[in-house]
Amino acid sequence: MRYRRLGSSDLEISEISLGSWLTYGGGVERDQAEACVAKAFEVGINFFDTANVYARGGAESFLGGILGNRSRDSFILATKLYFPINGDRGLSREQVLKQIDLSLGRLRTDYVDLYQCHRYDVEAPLEETMEALTEVVRAGKARYIGFSEWTADQIQAALDLVPSVEKFVSSQPQYSMLYRVPEREVIPLCKRNGISQIVWSPLAQGTLTGKYKPGAPPPEGTRAASQDMGWAMDRFRDDDVLAAVQRLRPIADGLGITMAQLALAWVLREDNAASAIIGASRPEQVDDNAAASEVELDASTLQAIDEALGDVVVR
Ligand SMILES: NC(=O)c1ccc[n+]([C@@H]2O[C@H](COP(=O)([O-])OP(=O)(O)OC[C@H]3O[C@@H](n4cnc5c(N)ncnc54)[C@H](OP(=O)(O)O)[C@@H]3O)[C@@H](O)[C@H]2O)c1
Repeated sequence: MRYRRLGSSDLEISEISLGSWLTYGGGVERDQAEACVAKAFEVGINFFDTANVYARGGAESFLGGILGNRSRDSFILATKLYFPINGDRGLSREQVLKQIDLSLGRLRTDYVDLYQCHRYDVEAPLEETMEALTEVVRAGKARYIGFSEWTADQIQAALDLVPSVEKFVSSQPQYSMLYRVPEREVIPLCKRNGISQIVWSPLAQGTLTGKYKPGAPPPEGTRAASQDMGWAMDRFRDDDVLAAVQRLRPIADGLGITMAQLALAWVLREDNAASAIIGASRPEQVDDNAAASEVELDASTLQAIDEALGDVVVR
């Protein structure tokens, strides 16, 4: 496993990291979830992403229980706030100060390494949010701050408040071979400002592993077939997308790697992406995905990928 610096922070995070949306404390059985986290440590993953809202606190509680058995400096922990949970929502000062304490309680730790705004809150003044996040950092409850899915204008407005408030070090966008929107504005802006991407759904929720075939129902035991998790996958259940993804198979085969590794190496070809945050329902997937950290794709491979996917890519 290779590691990259997270923006202007002093955190060195693994190129492949493990997330917990839909999976831990939720759609994946506890013993499988524990096996995935154990496998993550075994393969050198040191970065774990969660959010207060995942499984309504269940993902944080699961991680708190399992990471509590390890020394606190052996992993880097990120969580988020914003989405509605137990009648609360948003990024007001009151919410920031309340949600960090609730998250720390569930995570059974005194601090998180990264505290992220899960979305932008149009109802809270940006200065209020940034000042509250700064209070959280100064109190030692979070080491660094980040955001997820903010627009370039929103990011710039937060940067304009520095140095009187803490500076963001990370951006968490959806980014994959199939969804490249961050390349337009967010990545260039972040590059200029010491902010790294930590990418969500780098496998398009498993679609880029090639296991979903056009015209066929999703295989049993997959996210798309799951009642608890499949609802989030509708936009990848398009036959044109699935057919295009199948055209990536010979490219991966030619390199002697799996389709998952091809997709993750594609994300990591972007220097500004510090880590691809994978989900995993089985430890074998963690193993498969972690090996992508060693894979370099050359220019002709990147071109072949673009030709294979054609116009199904969202840009
Ligand atoms: N900031 C945000 O708004 C936001 C939004 C979404 C996610 N996230 C973060 O990003 C993380 C990753 O998102 P994601 O779970 O959608 O990522 P993903 O890595 O694109 O998809 C993960 C799913 O794909 C399947 N999979 C993974 N590796 C595989 C392999 N090698 N072979 C076959 N199938 C494989 C597994 O599902 P099955 O085995 O069940 O099919 C797994 O749960 C989340 O956990 C969360 O931390 C953030």
